[in-house]
Amino acid sequence: MSDLFSSLQMGPYRASNRVVMAPLTRCRAGQGNVPTELMARYYAQRASAGLIISEATCISPQGIGYPNTPGIWNGEQMAGWARVTQAVHEMGGHIVCQLWHVGRISHPSLQPDGGLPVAPSAIKPVGEAPTDQGMQPFVTPRALELSELPAIVKQYQIAAQNAMACGFDGVEVHAANGYLLDEFLRDGSNQRADAYGGSLENRSRLLIEVLEAVCAAEGADRVGVRLSPIQPANDMRDSDPEATFSYVVERLNAFGLAYLHVANMGITAPGAAGPYFDPRTLRTLWKGIYMTNHGYDRDSANAAVKNREADLVAFGVPFIGNPDLVARFKAGAALNAADPATFYGGNEKGYTDYPVMA
Ligand SMILES: Cc1cc2nc3c(=O)[nH]c(=O)nc-3n(C[C@H](O)[C@H](O)[C@H](O)COP(=O)(O)O)c2cc1C
Repeated sequence: MSDLFSSLQMGPYRASNRVVMAPLTRCRAGQGNVPTELMARYYAQRASAGLIISEATCISPQGIGYPNTPGIWNGEQMAGWARVTQAVHEMGGHIVCQLWHVGRISHPSLQPDGGLPVAPSAIKPVGEAPTDQGMQPFVTPRALELSELPAIVKQYQIAAQNAMACGFDGVEVHAANGYLLDEFLRDGSNQRADAYGGSLENRSRLLIEVLEAVCAAEGADRVGVRLSPIQPANDMRDSDPEATFSYVVERLNAFGLAYLHVANMGITAPGAAGPYFDPRTLRTLWKGIYMTNHGYDRDSANAAVKNREADLVAFGVPFIGNPDLVARFKAGAALNAADPATFYGGNEKGYTDYPVMA
């Protein structure tokens, strides 16, 4: 019987345990959205995770929604990432790159030429964007033209090729948390009347096209996908999340992906994101390796793996405060508390200075 500390073959590489570092935006990239040496140290400190999923990484300037987030569309950014992947590999770890386009969760001050953020439909999300000038209300985004979508699909493909070229073990397509691909999936943000809106087939079309392009570039067994079916953040909702995401998961089965990653945010507030369902039930539809996330601790994660509710468990906040999370779990040791004041932006403080066990 497998437990949290059993190894797992994932496509071409073997994860040494089932404790995954969840993608965590930390807003510490340098000028030009270039990953820094400090980021390499941070990730290397956490290399004992069975797998590291990088912080969300922008596929294009239009995909940016937060200051100081890394990109992967040019050579300087790739050189920065190559230092990160090398540092992780030297410590015996594996790391995949989370590919990100924020869609409407941006602000003109973060967009090329001060343009409007783009989205499936011109629906303004409730909330504020963190900009270089502080928090600013979201604006009404511009609905993408049909003619613009092939270029976005191509940017995902190029980003995946770039990720492989700078040493990542694979990529995770970010289709969660109210960003572009999730905005297309859910009908609260997608009210298009063309081939990318309306039916489940149409709302899934952009994600499917992105996956076809990304899998063609690097092989499906190096590609994961993240979904968050009932995550209400970023003003997200769907009229029937169970039907929507059951359909999406069935379609994803056809790809032979490295894994499916389902984040359960929203699960503790039934109804908050519209009709409630338990996203953990998607496990029964999925034919491959299944990763779960949100609010797990050592015991609940171990139980989930032992009971076969998931093959892998991703940890977010616990990995911020505990670079040696796997060793602490093995030892049953206490965890450092992570400091929310240093989650987004800053320097070493609250980033690379959390102590390991004595
Ligand atoms: C500081 C911070 C940054 C995050 N950045 C990302 C991100 O870049 N991509 C993503 O998919 N989720 C992101 N998340 C969500 C986490 O991956 C994870 O789903 C969440 O923390 C719940 O897991 P946990 O209960 O183990 O912390 C972030 C969460 C936090 C707290």
